[in-house]
Amino acid sequence: MSDNAFVVVTGGAGFIGSHTVDRLLNQGCRVAVIDNFSTGRLENLAQWKEEERLEILTVDIADGIFASLSALEERWGPVERIIHLAAQTSVVHSIDSPLGDVRTNYTGTVQVLEYARRKKVKKIVFASSAAVYGDVEEFPVREDFVCSPLSPYGINKLSVEFWLGYHSKVHGIDTAPLRFFNVYGPRQDPSSPYSGVISIFADRCSAGKDLTIFGDGEQTRDFVYVGDVSRAIVLACFAKGGDGSPANIGTGLETSVNDLATLINEFCGGKSTISHGESREGEILKSVADVSRAKERFDFSAKTALRDGLKDTVTALTGG
Ligand SMILES: NC(=O)c1ccc[n+]([C@@H]2O[C@H](COP(=O)([O-])OP(=O)(O)OC[C@H]3O[C@@H](n4cnc5c(N)ncnc54)[C@H](O)[C@@H]3O)[C@@H](O)[C@H]2O)c1
Repeated sequence: MSDNAFVVVTGGAGFIGSHTVDRLLNQGCRVAVIDNFSTGRLENLAQWKEEERLEILTVDIADGIFASLSALEERWGPVERIIHLAAQTSVVHSIDSPLGDVRTNYTGTVQVLEYARRKKVKKIVFASSAAVYGDVEEFPVREDFVCSPLSPYGINKLSVEFWLGYHSKVHGIDTAPLRFFNVYGPRQDPSSPYSGVISIFADRCSAGKDLTIFGDGEQTRDFVYVGDVSRAIVLACFAKGGDGSPANIGTGLETSVNDLATLINEFCGGKSTISHGESREGEILKSVADVSRAKERFDFSAKTALRDGLKDTVTALTGG
């Protein structure tokens, strides 16, 4: 069903985006990547250098995407589906620079949606986030919980979900916001201070450097492997329907940061010392997704065990 479909992937040179592009191309799609390379990297797509079904366009979504796609539309015909992943991805940065977050994550996204509306795109998949929930007291976290985001990042992700609902109801476009939990895996950039804890720990342990955990380390997260997340994105992209209501993308399993640090250190030969520092103000202490909606809607469940995913992540970092 996905054969030869023309799919635009914004943020396609990034961590999750490049894995999604791999999957789409392997399924026979034609893919246009839209990316401003602020955090994305051409190396993430280097394996497709000679591929005629891939076009990489250097564009900032906040400037609009119409002009950049027009030449390709003449050759390939209309864009059928959009997977919108481009974003300012740091919660901390959004608190320091809320207008910067609005520019990309809100206004930039509305530019992408405007393209979809005017061009009558069939489906939009959007990378939302568990950050929309804020502090939750009941677990696992369900999509019908009241959302109370604690950052501009979370507010803008939630606002876009409303835009998707509007586009479905008023303009008849199928839309699917996916609320990712903590995604990890190869190509996540450990050099960014905002990067996921797994890539930072794996990077430090593989270099034999010590680890400092914020707080007592008993805070938990739902860590989901990027190969599973890209599979969820593509399943949602080609599933029938989509009314703008979100689906969690996680494993349904909780892992403490202490257990995570021990496992990663073990994979890297146990050379690092693990210590504890001050806890971070406002840090959420527990997070785990209810994953039943994604299963019902597009038959997704995460398959990669944490041990296997961590092994891949460490191997990719050490070039082993
Ligand atoms: N990684 C996670 O754990 C996680 C969790 C929840 C949600 N998300 C969401 O998933 C999406 C992908 O995140 P990621 O982890 O792959 O991050 P990433 O930084 O690797 O990818 C983001 C991509 O968007 C591009 N980009 C940023 N601003 C842009 C702009 N103005 N115009 C065009 N391109 C732009 C970047 O260059 C990069 O390639 C984001 O929307 C993020 O908010 C990620």
